[in-house]
Amino acid sequence: MTDETSASLLAAVPMPLVLVGSNERIRAMNPASGELFGAGGEGRHYVTVLRQPGLLSAIERALREGRPGQERYVQKDLARETTFRVRVAPVASNGDRGVLVSFEDITEVEHAGQMRRDFVANVSHELKTPLTALVGFIETLRGAARDDPEARDRFLTIMEREAERMNRLVSDLLSLSRVESAERQRPTDPVDLAELTRSTLNALGTLAEAEHVALECVTDAEDGDGTYVVAGDADQLQQVLTNLIENAIKYGKDGGGVTVRISHKARELAFRGPAVELVVEDYGEGFDPIHIPRLTERFYRVDTHRSRSVGGTGLGLAIAKHIVNRHRGRFRIDSTPGKGARFTVLLPA
Ligand SMILES: Nc1ncnc2c1ncn2[C@@H]1O[C@H](COP(=O)(O)OP(=O)(O)OP(=O)(O)O)[C@@H](O)[C@H]1O
Ligand SMILES: [Mg+2]
Repeated sequence: MTDETSASLLAAVPMPLVLVGSNERIRAMNPASGELFGAGGEGRHYVTVLRQPGLLSAIERALREGRPGQERYVQKDLARETTFRVRVAPVASNGDRGVLVSFEDITEVEHAGQMRRDFVANVSHELKTPLTALVGFIETLRGAARDDPEARDRFLTIMEREAERMNRLVSDLLSLSRVESAERQRPTDPVDLAELTRSTLNALGTLAEAEHVALECVTDAEDGDGTYVVAGDADQLQQVLTNLIENAIKYGKDGGGVTVRISHKARELAFRGPAVELVVEDYGEGFDPIHIPRLTERFYRVDTHRSRSVGGTGLGLAIAKHIVNRHRGRFRIDSTPGKGARFTVLLPA
């Protein structure tokens, strides 16, 4: 094979490749590796181009021993870090013995692995807390509190609450996995958001009363004529509304009220077409905007202790975001600390 042939073969491969000759000089680089190390490395000693110590010794070893090797290579620039699995393989070309260095981008794979590990750790932790409490109370009921009916009742009440928490956590996890698996498949049923909001507000009336929060629904037009109809999954959209309104009641109750605003947009730039906007607003303490990018992460809470004490699992907003994604909608969060929080859902109409 001529040098020209090997260069054009390398150029056809999308992953970065560098061919080093037995004289330790670079014989060919493809455009992808040019992007990584700068173009024009051909003819130079590989040490002056590849630079990273781990990588250099792997190449040196492969050249000397004629055996393949593997190495990790992390490239940092201002914006991000990219991780490569580098394979160094002896090759023969044009009667010369060299090595081919290939770079496989494994950033995404490593990131996904980390997310999975974090997720399992979080779930275990969330389940462990109520379980530990249950086991402790069972022990107490068998021992010290055996003949104390009053204490028994009290402990049973706490045990019921902890069991309910686990129940809620497990159903939230199931619902998250259901939504995720159907995320690519866009729902098609006609759903009237004004109607759905009214029934959700009704269902949450008792909770709102108990927390002394006044619920209000405002629409920008006479509804009932299909103005607020979107293609959707009614159960899932109800889940979004329930969580947003429930959050507003639970965390924003100091403001004394929650407003749901529904409006029709004739032309929404994000969809290049009509949209329905749904805003859930409260006037409570809100949160520092630094939390906003992470609020929709699983198990992320602004105040973990407080969320747990009101029975939260920290999954509500993660589920809501996946549901909105499935509807090809947009989800936005704003808050001014001390003044309240606003959650906006924008859906194509
Ligand atoms: N309206 C709000 N005002 C202030 N903080 C809020 C508001 N809504 C959400 N948060 C914060 O965001 C966190 C995440 O909310 P999310 O709904 O995902 O979980 P949760 O309410 O704790 O649990 P779950 O919804 O699963 O019962 C909450 O724990 C709370 O700290
Ligand atoms: Mg919630």
